[in-house]
Amino acid sequence: MAIFLDTGNIYDIRKFHEMGIIRGVTTNPSILTKEGVNGGMDGVKKISIEIAKLIDPLPLSVEVITNETEGMISQAIDFSSWASNINVKITIHGPNGELNNLQVVQELETKHDIRVNVTAMMSVQQCFLAAMAGATYVSIFGGRVNNMGYDSRIEIRKLRDLLDNFELDSKIIVGSTREVINVVEWLHAGAHIVTCTPKFLEGMIVHPYSKETVQMFLKDGAKFE
Ligand code: E4P
Repeated sequence: MAIFLDTGNIYDIRKFHEMGIIRGVTTNPSILTKEGVNGGMDGVKKISIEIAKLIDPLPLSVEVITNETEGMISQAIDFSSWASNINVKITIHGPNGELNNLQVVQELETKHDIRVNVTAMMSVQQCFLAAMAGATYVSIFGGRVNNMGYDSRIEIRKLRDLLDNFELDSKIIVGSTREVINVVEWLHAGAHIVTCTPKFLEGMIVHPYSKETVQMFLKDGAKFE
């Protein structure tokens, strides 16, 4: 799995998908707002179907926009009917710590056969319980973990050990990239997937010395023309 793209930008998704270096796409309401998606839920549906088709059969995560139990369930059913590769993001709890979300996760995974990505998590203990509830993906926000003074690499390693030791099938997605190095360091720490913003993926490819070397090859190669 390795790398997902954390964006709603069609141009970037197409570009990196055509290179064969991404294995999925994640979005959230803030990402879609930043991309200028409008037109209410119809706008969300349109862009989600466009991305899902573009990357099919790779997975696309689309986040619910309510925290009301029935609303989360009906949005999840709706979203997953848009395309077979769409999975649904549910936050670990409500805006004020409401506890209805994990029950929704459990119900979606077991009764509705919908793959859920539990999101907005900042700790191992949250991810562990989301995995216990049956989430297909558990998303921890590595950059925000670092910003709170914890070493995200240590937390990711702990989480991976727990999932492996207890034979939980959830895949760890680490998001909230802040530096190019995050991708490799989080994968190395035990993440199954890092979801990365497009600019950092480009930063992983381009290296100043590679540029210099390619320029040298082309300059010398021109002597044979
Ligand atoms: C993960 O799925 C989220 O979309 C994302 O990585 C959050 O990152 P942020 O901390 O930059 O908002």
